[in-house]
Amino acid sequence: HVFNNSLDASKEVAAEVASLIREKQAQQKMCVLGLATGSSPKSLYAELVRLHKEENLSFKNVISFNLDEYYPMKAESIHSYVRFMNEQLFDHVDINAENVHIPDGTLSKQEIAEYCNSYESKIEEMGGIDLQILGIGGNGHIGFNESGSLQNSKTRLVALDHSTRIAASKDFKGLKNTPRTAITLGVSKIMEARRVILLAWGEAKSAIVRKAVEEEFTNQVPASFLQEHNAVDFVVDKEAASQL
Ligand code: GLP
Repeated sequence: HVFNNSLDASKEVAAEVASLIREKQAQQKMCVLGLATGSSPKSLYAELVRLHKEENLSFKNVISFNLDEYYPMKAESIHSYVRFMNEQLFDHVDINAENVHIPDGTLSKQEIAEYCNSYESKIEEMGGIDLQILGIGGNGHIGFNESGSLQNSKTRLVALDHSTRIAASKDFKGLKNTPRTAITLGVSKIMEARRVILLAWGEAKSAIVRKAVEEEFTNQVPASFLQEHNAVDFVVDKEAASQL
């Protein structure tokens, strides 16, 4: 779906998220959202906050699972995805804190494997992800599933690509301060989501959007795995669509 600009696109996506939340509310069910960080979903979260404040959209029945977190990372760090999500969304809506899940960047290395299993089990206990929001890395990563990730990969600790670290280094004020590893939801849980919406804005994403959508299905471009998902949309602005 190609939109004139990211704002119009984000409004459309927010409307879908809101209608799913309301539909589940009417059925007295919880709505399980898979959420992403990065610059792409910011305008979506801003619109969801507006819908909460101006159009009575409640998040009381929302359970969220974020895709990823840097490792190691303290929750209170200005760079943490916990902080990002609080600032962009959670601090401004009525979601219950116990319904928010973000991978824990403070564990010891020995604890990570078991923690990742339990993160996936929690998603399963909640009935799986109803709607997964994704961004796309310049190298085609989804979450932090970098090039080479397998389609059946599980939630795990990963080494970040050099290109991902370079992109992140602006926030961390230099490559030497940029984490080398992260915890990410695996590709298989992303693929199990009943609905997936990937957001991409700007000329800089146009080449990788084309690769993911129009070129071969390959683990070099993990976003290309989505070609096999039966309810996925790439929502892009006209700059990101310019090579399609
Ligand atoms: C980070 C996140 C990804 C995100 C990507 C793209 O690497 N872990 O989930 O998709 O950035 O970021 P942006 O939306 O800022 O381009």
